[in-house]
Amino acid sequence: RTVYVNGEYLPEHEAKISIFDRAFLMADGVYEVTSVLDGKLIDFAGHAKRLERSLSELDMRSPVTTDELLEIHRELVRQNGIEEGLVYLQITRGAPGDRDFVFPDPETTEPTIVLFTQNKPGLADSPAAKKGMKIISIEDQRWGRRDIKTTQLLYPSMGKMMAKKAGADDAWMVEDGFVTEGTSNNAYIIKGNTIITRALSNDILHGITRAAVLRFAAEAQMKVEERNYSIDEAKEADEAFITSASAFVMPVVEIDGVALGDGTPGARAARLREIYLEESR
Ligand code: PDD
Repeated sequence: RTVYVNGEYLPEHEAKISIFDRAFLMADGVYEVTSVLDGKLIDFAGHAKRLERSLSELDMRSPVTTDELLEIHRELVRQNGIEEGLVYLQITRGAPGDRDFVFPDPETTEPTIVLFTQNKPGLADSPAAKKGMKIISIEDQRWGRRDIKTTQLLYPSMGKMMAKKAGADDAWMVEDGFVTEGTSNNAYIIKGNTIITRALSNDILHGITRAAVLRFAAEAQMKVEERNYSIDEAKEADEAFITSASAFVMPVVEIDGVALGDGTPGARAARLREIYLEESR
């Protein structure tokens, strides 16, 4: 596969990054994941905008313009023949000559930019969407700026492992009794015709798929309530689901061993997935 590194398109085995790169030493980097359906990028503008915000919150800059970024995404999708899959993009503070807690001078240290594609045939028609996900709840032990999409993903990765060990598919993180989000997705419950999801703040990532799904709620004849909900309230909900660029809308059928409804994907979550896929491709 062809990857992009600092201005060059290269075969993946020829791509090189310094061992002093601050992403490698300190997770000092931000990223985006954009899905591809029918060879086309989904919601590139939203991802580009969030990237800009992540960079500015960390006092970093992009080495390329948004137009150039779009062109690189398209070129990789073309070169790698991606019909359904993902484009991963990462920008880091770069590689100063040594390890230091102080940020390097941006005049002398260029940011590092890396992009690669992941081919995922059948992403839209995923069997997982028909089966639904089993969720466990875990304590949210991440840092306090979850609105910034950084590459510090150790705790979410540990959460995913805790879920796997428990025979589940993913974990919802809970803080002060309230659900924040999934390990790599936003979390929702449905009661009657109302979608309930945590309001935007520094506590969660401002999902691009979240914004789209909430926009499409009216089309599914559903109302939206943005508020905190507890894990106990979630277990009593009619339905639940998650959203992300790689999962789109994915129904949740079980939380901490408690089946929601009859334990199969709910009709409303399934309808929201359908609408999302129709509207965004
Ligand atoms: N994760 N919350 C967290 C913690 C996430 O990592 C993600 C995305 C989301 C959903 O955001 P969006 O709808 O913009 O993808 C919410 C990506 C897909 C990942 O880490 O692979």
